[in-house]
Amino acid sequence: MAAPATSPERILALGFGFWGAKALLSAVELGLFTELAKEPLDEQALRQRLGLHERSARDFFDALVALGLLERLGDFYTNGPEAERYLDRASPEYVGGLLEMANARLYGFWGSLTEALRTGQPQNEARHGGDLFGALYADPERLRQFLSAMSGISAGPGRAIAAGFPWAEYRTFADIGTAQGALPVALAGAHPHLTGIGFDLEPVRPIFDEYVARHGLSERLRFAAGDFFRDPLPHAEVLIMGHILHDWDLEQKRALVAKAYEAIPPGGALIVYESLIDDERKQNAFGLLMSLNMLIETPGGFDFTGAQGSAWLHEAGFRATRVEPIGGPDSMLIGIK
Ligand SMILES: C[S@@+](CC[C@H](N)C(=O)[O-])C[C@H]1O[C@@H](n2cnc3c(N)ncnc32)[C@H](O)[C@@H]1O
Repeated sequence: MAAPATSPERILALGFGFWGAKALLSAVELGLFTELAKEPLDEQALRQRLGLHERSARDFFDALVALGLLERLGDFYTNGPEAERYLDRASPEYVGGLLEMANARLYGFWGSLTEALRTGQPQNEARHGGDLFGALYADPERLRQFLSAMSGISAGPGRAIAAGFPWAEYRTFADIGTAQGALPVALAGAHPHLTGIGFDLEPVRPIFDEYVARHGLSERLRFAAGDFFRDPLPHAEVLIMGHILHDWDLEQKRALVAKAYEAIPPGGALIVYESLIDDERKQNAFGLLMSLNMLIETPGGFDFTGAQGSAWLHEAGFRATRVEPIGGPDSMLIGIK
């Protein structure tokens, strides 16, 4: 039998994927899509707006056209439809906060992946000891950038969880490790009968309060400060943990699930949402790479499959669990007490 026809094209595209990735990240950093959302601009005007060298501009802009992010009509550049919707800082659906954080932090840290693979040690701000959140939160600018980046990964899942869970059966929820509060805002915005708590470390409070007020939801959403390892969790009918468990090692994951079980009444629910890895560990490349990101970012964190998560929930006492996709690489794991 003849061997199937192959070509190195896919391998080379993957190997050089960082070229396109960095072009996008630099464009977000420069505010290019935000400028083009205001008005179409020709090469010279866009170059001057962004303060770019004349040698770089044309190739940079046209590469973004070829990557499908920009369009060029005659001499004028405009955003493509996805860039217009998701990469303009003024858009309510802006996901660039996540990309700004990827550009400012992860892009450099991932350069040390080989070292992380050899040593098992974090390669970020906590490289020389200390913990990620302590290091981030010591610098107000990094704190704000990190928390707004979290909204980039939780706003979409928030809308899906608002639509895909039987909220009519519940009245109260608490989002554990809420960051800016994108998930509570999505839930309270979609369901006027719900009241909720965003629980996080004390330095997060002003950023949560400001975000919730901006969405006009301060009446039904409040912040509770605490450390989820040291303090009791707030009580509510539904507890949510989004991208929390993957930050921690197995023993810490189990401790957090046990604490969540204590904080909800019989019939209450725990919703864990993450880029859950498929049970065969063969399909969800984003989830598997997210787990390597936890290698770079944390001393013991790792992502996990729906089956693993369900087992931890059953161990803690949850009587029923189910896993449901919520779009993209993310799924939610639901446990009923
Ligand atoms: C990866 S972010 C996830 C944010 C959000 N749930 C989401 O999905 O976008 C982890 C969050 O946990 C919070 N956190 C970290 N350690 C904590 C602790 N010991 N107690 C309470 N919150 C903590 C961080 O401040 C951060 O907001």
